[in-house]
Amino acid sequence: MGYDFGGDTFDLRDPHDRATVRFVLSQALYGEATGVYCGKSLYAARSLEAARFYVRQAHQELNHLTLFADIFRELEMQPEPGHWVVRLLSAHNNYYPLKVLMEHALGEGMVLDIFREVLLQTLPDDDPRVPPIKKKLRAICREEEEHVAWGEKETRRLLEERPWLRHPYYGLLELQLLVAPMIARAFAGREHRVLRHLPGFLTYVKGRMWEQGQALGFVPSTRPGLAYRLGAMAWGVALFVRSQFATSRSTLEHTYLSELGFAGGAR
Ligand SMILES: [Fe+2]
Ligand SMILES: [Fe+2]
Repeated sequence: MGYDFGGDTFDLRDPHDRATVRFVLSQALYGEATGVYCGKSLYAARSLEAARFYVRQAHQELNHLTLFADIFRELEMQPEPGHWVVRLLSAHNNYYPLKVLMEHALGEGMVLDIFREVLLQTLPDDDPRVPPIKKKLRAICREEEEHVAWGEKETRRLLEERPWLRHPYYGLLELQLLVAPMIARAFAGREHRVLRHLPGFLTYVKGRMWEQGQALGFVPSTRPGLAYRLGAMAWGVALFVRSQFATSRSTLEHTYLSELGFAGGAR
């Protein structure tokens, strides 16, 4: 399970290594800041279960944000702005079916790849500042796993309810696999024992996401032809554009009686 960096680590005393670690941590910090806005989803939560999840998640993401800020302080680093790929992939989505797939299942799945595979393996244990940082990272990873699990559960439910979603979902996965590796260009031309793993790590992430899509039921066992792929991507983009203009509609004031188990609560 996971990608093996073969024990290759960064040197937190080397200025070049510090710049790379700073870049990765800055993307994490930006992502956690946008993660806090999942609290916005509380307004559109369709059930008490969803409302409970979003209250809990907002609390956890706010906590992650301050934990990453602590990590910056411990390493005496100054954060930089988020990369455009991270800003694009972490944009808030008001359209619930896209939100659960793109933000939770796929997005936070990639976040876990970076935290669990990259940071936990490549920060050097022989640096006295690292063990307490890894303790924080492990706690964050456990909570991110819960967020991915929620996204996968809701994605499955939505696919059952609206089977047509499998087409735009598939297109969006293809697009995400195209866009996400562009962040690796930030390291282009750098020779480094950790960075030489980049192509292998990207292949690992793509493979894992592909399997995730298959397990969720929207990725076929063999990759479809170009015509279908382009059609699915166009459908995915159309839904994504629509989602940027979608407004949330609250439901709990209509459903709270049935959600709480009172008779006659149905709309
Ligand atoms: Fe988080
Ligand atoms: Fe999260």
